Amino acid sequence: MSKMVKVSAPATIANLGPGFDVFGLALSHPFDVVEAEKSEGGVEILEVQGVGAQGISKDSGKNSAGIAASEALRLIGAAGGVKLKIQKGVKPGGGIGSSSASAVAGAGAVNELFGGKLSAEQLIEAAARAEEKIAGTIHYDNVTPALVGGFTIVTSTKPLQFFRLDPPPMKVVVAQPALELPTALGRKVLPQEVMLKDAVANVAKASTMVAALNAGDLKLFGKCMVDSIAELARAPLIPGFFDVKWAALEAGALGAAMAGSGPSVFAILEPDGDAEAVAGAMKEAFERAGLGCETIITPPGKGFQVLRRG
Ligand code: HSE
Repeated sequence: MSKMVKVSAPATIANLGPGFDVFGLALSHPFDVVEAEKSEGGVEILEVQGVGAQGISKDSGKNSAGIAASEALRLIGAAGGVKLKIQKGVKPGGGIGSSSASAVAGAGAVNELFGGKLSAEQLIEAAARAEEKIAGTIHYDNVTPALVGGFTIVTSTKPLQFFRLDPPPMKVVVAQPALELPTALGRKVLPQEVMLKDAVANVAKASTMVAALNAGDLKLFGKCMVDSIAELARAPLIPGFFDVKWAALEAGALGAAMAGSGPSVFAILEPDGDAEAVAGAMKEAFERAGLGCETIITPPGKGFQVLRRG
C-alpha cells in the first residue's frame, strides 16, 4: 500500500439557476492539490500554500481538508493518521466551492492511502461534514461534483443519494468579483417560505435542464438556468449582479446565473463560443459596479483525481 498520495479536487458550481442545493457542475480548473503522507495517528497540516492560503487555518480541526481527512479516517477505522500539504488553487470565499475542493481532496487522499474502502456517498458525507464545520451549513451540491465530476443531482440527503450525468462539451466562464461573501450570509437572506408559482417555475426549469442535458441541447440547458427563488434574495448582496448577468447574455452566453451563493457569476457557451468576449463583458460590468474582477474560462471537469502515489 502507498505511503503517500497526491490528489486534486476542482472548483464547482452549485445550483446552476433553479437547482438550489441540488445541481452541481465540476469545473476542469482551478483545483486544489493535497499531498498526504501516512503518520502514526491523527491529522496534521504541514503547510497551506496558494491562493488565499494566508486566511486558511493550519489547525486540522478548523481546516476543511483536515476535518474531512479525520472524518474519513474515522469511517475507515484506520489505525494510523496523515500529514497533509495543501496547495490552494480555488480562491476561498469566491462561491465556486473552495472549501469543498479541499474537503474532497482531504477525504479522498485518506481513502486512497488506507485501501479505498469508502463509497462515494461516504466520501461525500465526510467532505460535507467538513463544510458544515467551516461554513456552518450542510449542503452537498459542491462536494458531490468535486468528487465524481460532471453534472450532479443530489437526489436526497437522508440517506445521501446522487445522480451523475456527463455534460455535453461546453465552455464555462466564471466572473469572480473582489468581494467576499460567506455562504452563511448568502443563506441567511433566503426566504423561509416560497410562492407556489416560483416553486413551479423552478421545477419546470430544473427538470427541463436535465432533459436538455440528456438530449445534448446546450441552448435549452442554458435558457433554463433561471432561478425564481434564491437568486433574487441574494442579488442585493452582489453589486452589479444583474448587469453582469445581462452582459454575459448580450455577449453571446447561452445562460448565466449566480455561482452557488455568490459572489461569482457564471455563464455557459457552446464549445466554439467566444468565451473571451463573454468574460470581458462580465468583468467590465463588475468594474462599472466598482468591483475588481477576475475571470476563469474552463470546460467542465472530471472531479477528484489521483496525481501520484509513492
Ligand atoms: N447550494 C448552496 C447555496 C451552495 O446556494 O447556499 C453554496 O455554495
